[in-house]
Amino acid sequence: MIVSPGMPPMDLGAKDSIRSHYDLATPFYRLFWGPHIHHGLWSAEDAVREQPHASPRAAQEALTDAVATLADIQRGQHVLDVGCGMGGSSIRLARQRHCEVTGITLSGVQRRWASMAALLNGVTRSVRFRRVDAELVTFAPASFDVVWSIECTEHLFDKEAFFRRAAGWLRPGGRMAICAWLAADDADRPGLREQVEAVCDSFLCPSLGSFSDYTGWMTAAGLQVEHTEDWTARVARTWELCDERVRRCGLPWLARSIDMRQATFLDNFKTLLDAYRSGAMQYGCIVARRPETAA
Ligand SMILES: C[S@@+](CC[C@H](N)C(=O)[O-])C[C@H]1O[C@@H](n2cnc3c(N)ncnc32)[C@H](O)[C@@H]1O
Repeated sequence: MIVSPGMPPMDLGAKDSIRSHYDLATPFYRLFWGPHIHHGLWSAEDAVREQPHASPRAAQEALTDAVATLADIQRGQHVLDVGCGMGGSSIRLARQRHCEVTGITLSGVQRRWASMAALLNGVTRSVRFRRVDAELVTFAPASFDVVWSIECTEHLFDKEAFFRRAAGWLRPGGRMAICAWLAADDADRPGLREQVEAVCDSFLCPSLGSFSDYTGWMTAAGLQVEHTEDWTARVARTWELCDERVRRCGLPWLARSIDMRQATFLDNFKTLLDAYRSGAMQYGCIVARRPETAA
């Protein structure tokens, strides 16, 4: 695991900057990237085309659908969406797979936004959103069929403790499905480490775990890892597109005049892309199952 040099462990101020980033930036994410705040997943062929066939929106939906398929999400199941953003995944799971979903986010703006989106999508009966900290919230044991989290665990301070608690929220046979920005397993090497640290600092991540950290935390929490997918090459285009879009409309200039920290975020899209290209970082999807009976 590579730890951010700039964010002290479990610092309340740092947690507040994550919250205010999402409070402030959510309308911009919606405008520039759509209702999902996560990478797009292009097919292996499309990922190398100069002009991909799939639009960013279609690629984002493809990522959500690929995770739902790997996690074997079935009609009527109860899903906890940890770090639910504007409710993109929660609403898609309710509409496409007829799930009941509880979405949690640190941001009050996102909670209200997601609730409004659920209303507009006609899924208020099956989807609810709460503004709570995933590192503090408690749920009854065995209350969910699936714990789902796309690109949120990067922001958690004690990832191992989160996995231990979240595994207990799963019913026996339930699945945990995670997509995350990862430090490469060998990112400790000089040159690579600095790249990961720069991403942690710019994108408000207290640390980035590797594939083996994540699978280790899940296994230690009593789960059996079923899938580990390295999607780096299929998602990297996301940052080229984001960089192009925000620069075309002068967003870094606007962000700088609102809040310096937001501008740092926008100025570092290329840092992330470089970290994928150099092999310092990977993008992974990991699915694990809680055994039917305790080991
Ligand atoms: C990159 S966005 C991903 C949003 C969403 N999963 C999606 O794919 O559209 C990260 C999300 O994690 C949430 N988050 C970060 N730290 C959190 C915490 N400690 N508890 C709950 N949510 C958190 C943010 O509020 C935000 O909604």
